[in-house]
Amino acid sequence: MEIIEKAPAKINLGLDVLRKREDDGYHDLEMIMASVDLADKLFIQELETDDIVVKTSASFLPVDAKNNVYQAVALLKEACGISKGVFVDIKKNIPVAAGLGGGSSDAAATLRGLNQLWELGLKTEELSQIGFQVGTDVPYCMYGSTAFVSGRGEKVERLPVMPQCWVVLVKPPFSVSTRKIFAELDMETISHPNIAALKEAILNESYEDMIQYMGNAMEVTTIERRPVVQEIKDRMMRYGADVAIMSGSGPTVFGLCQNYSRAKRVYNGLKGFCQEVHIVRTLNC
Ligand code: C5P
Repeated sequence: MEIIEKAPAKINLGLDVLRKREDDGYHDLEMIMASVDLADKLFIQELETDDIVVKTSASFLPVDAKNNVYQAVALLKEACGISKGVFVDIKKNIPVAAGLGGGSSDAAATLRGLNQLWELGLKTEELSQIGFQVGTDVPYCMYGSTAFVSGRGEKVERLPVMPQCWVVLVKPPFSVSTRKIFAELDMETISHPNIAALKEAILNESYEDMIQYMGNAMEVTTIERRPVVQEIKDRMMRYGADVAIMSGSGPTVFGLCQNYSRAKRVYNGLKGFCQEVHIVRTLNC
């Protein structure tokens, strides 16, 4: 039997870093995340032998214990005492190490798929707890759609689906290390987006309020390292995006537009500037 799972990308409509924690050095976060219609596809099969075999269409990605999907399988096997093996073939469509949660979404999709394949009957909450050991964004990815995420990333509260619009994603030709960006944050001077107001806007289904309160506290730090991120934001606004901000720790920038012709203009305007440009819808589920 083969299970096929879709693993959608996420964008951060808002990302705030509240404080660095004394005990473990991680940061307390408040984020509003939403899924977009750009997804990896995972083909999951049971193996006769007790092995974890991962294959990916992105040949530069590791397929050993450094891979998020590999880790998710290993953790689930351990948690449930399963001695069967698995083969997971990942067709990558989401840009890698981009701030779009591709690796986390793949891990979440793997847990969903194996829960079904092995008829484990685990609740989303339980899968989330296992997934959190793989990465910060995995609990959110277990739920998907629009959500308020807090703590270190483990607390997920579902919100109404964000107002529908077109999303233009621009991924510059380099990646940034999330760990390094966190380490470089200057908590004294960081600017905090108003996440409470953004959440309210989404609860009220107001696109105008939503775009007004969107923001990312990590943006300035990534832009200091990679000024082109600012240039992409500026260009998106010049071509007519309603708002343009960085997703996660970057370097992908996304712009929102309410109508397609405007989104197409932004897409065309950025296509010559960066190679990796996508135009997608928000995901309505
Ligand atoms: O969980 P993930 O692999 O995405 O985290 C990458 C790095 O980002 C962590 O090793 C940590 O340095 C930093 N981080 C943090 N606070 C969080 C989440 C991540 O400092 N809440």
